[in-house]
Amino acid sequence: MKNEHPERVAPPIGLGRLWIGEEERALVDEVMGSRYLNRYYGAGPGSPPPMALTLEKEISECFDVPYALAVTSGTAALEVAIAALGIGPGDEVIVPAWSWISCFTAIVRCGARPVLAEIDDSLCLAPGEIRRLQTPRTKAAMVIHFQGVPAQLDALAEEARECGVDLIEDCAQSPGAIYHGRRVGTWGTVGTFSFQHQKTITSGEGGALVTKDAALFERAVRMQDLGLYRPVFETRRKPQDDMFCGGQYRMSELTAAVALAQFRKLDAIRAHCRNLRRVFDEALGELPAGITRQHIPDPTGDSSIEMYFMAESAAKAETILKRLGNDAVNCVAMTGTYAQYNRAYCAKGLAHAPSASPFNELGPMPARGYRAGDFPRTESMIHRLIPLPLGVAYTEYDARWMANALRRSIC
Ligand SMILES: Cc1ncc(COP(=O)(O)O)c(C=O)c1O
Repeated sequence: MKNEHPERVAPPIGLGRLWIGEEERALVDEVMGSRYLNRYYGAGPGSPPPMALTLEKEISECFDVPYALAVTSGTAALEVAIAALGIGPGDEVIVPAWSWISCFTAIVRCGARPVLAEIDDSLCLAPGEIRRLQTPRTKAAMVIHFQGVPAQLDALAEEARECGVDLIEDCAQSPGAIYHGRRVGTWGTVGTFSFQHQKTITSGEGGALVTKDAALFERAVRMQDLGLYRPVFETRRKPQDDMFCGGQYRMSELTAAVALAQFRKLDAIRAHCRNLRRVFDEALGELPAGITRQHIPDPTGDSSIEMYFMAESAAKAETILKRLGNDAVNCVAMTGTYAQYNRAYCAKGLAHAPSASPFNELGPMPARGYRAGDFPRTESMIHRLIPLPLGVAYTEYDARWMANALRRSIC
């Protein structure tokens, strides 16, 4: 796109990765100095506390939950959580149609069937969908807190409880966000996080889960480590289950060192972005006619890493995005969230092997519930989106610039 304001360089989009500095380096050096790069070796008298263990301790304290577990990615966290809930073939998990690839694929990888749900104008799972889609096979519902904005958790947690299904909170895009005074990830049965490159805090790859449920924690630990339960976890829970066939999702100490230093910056990143949104909101004033805004169910607690507006039509959104680009505003969505029904794995019902597909019993795919036409509410919003990312390299000047540019861009 042509930049009509060469005097202004749009700041780079990015959160924790742009704040990687001496703190991360110091912890990585510590691990290198110890020569123990695997979290399950090297702990003992005289050795430094392992990074993964320290990360888990600090996450637990910060989230005020008894159990946190570090894993290799946000996708791994979802697979471990679903497996730890005992979900498998024949089961169903409700998941918003508008979500990240692994929200869907993690369910399939565990042998269960994702059942797609509508989002509301918060761009998160719509209350009422769990009840509408529940069948005797439904074991859980997954809520994705979209780009820093917590879903309507009080309604959704209540609905899940009434329906007798577990609530999985995927917080990959919203770590540190707060809903009515409580951090996201602590409202459901289990909360999952990602430290991938584009996330609020990052170690390149990495993830974690939190839970208050001791039995679920033990199963998650076992799923993460070949079914084993190492002594290092025994201060948190004495093992009570048998070993089962787990996976290998162990976080390395090098990853944990970076994730730990980044985790310590999480609230500062959130505060920086929230301040930018406040300045943006003040500069924008009244919402210009011709656009609406993503509903933020609790504006006192979101992370404000990205702001979403909606134009009146897809064509108008395209024009606005072009004008914003010409006005030196980065308006590329920071996340790759998709309508699942538009992707081949969903439309064709593909698992890693045909016999492993949970869609076989539905007949030819896309079956009902897996086609764009089945999601009028989601479809009515997702083609009109105008994403405006905020980041740690952004200043108050940038926030004001973006507000003015948005007003100028409305057609
Ligand atoms: C909502 C959501 N869940 C899960 C993930 C997966 O995280 P990872 O890339 O660490 O596997 C992502 C990553 O983009 C995400 O946005």
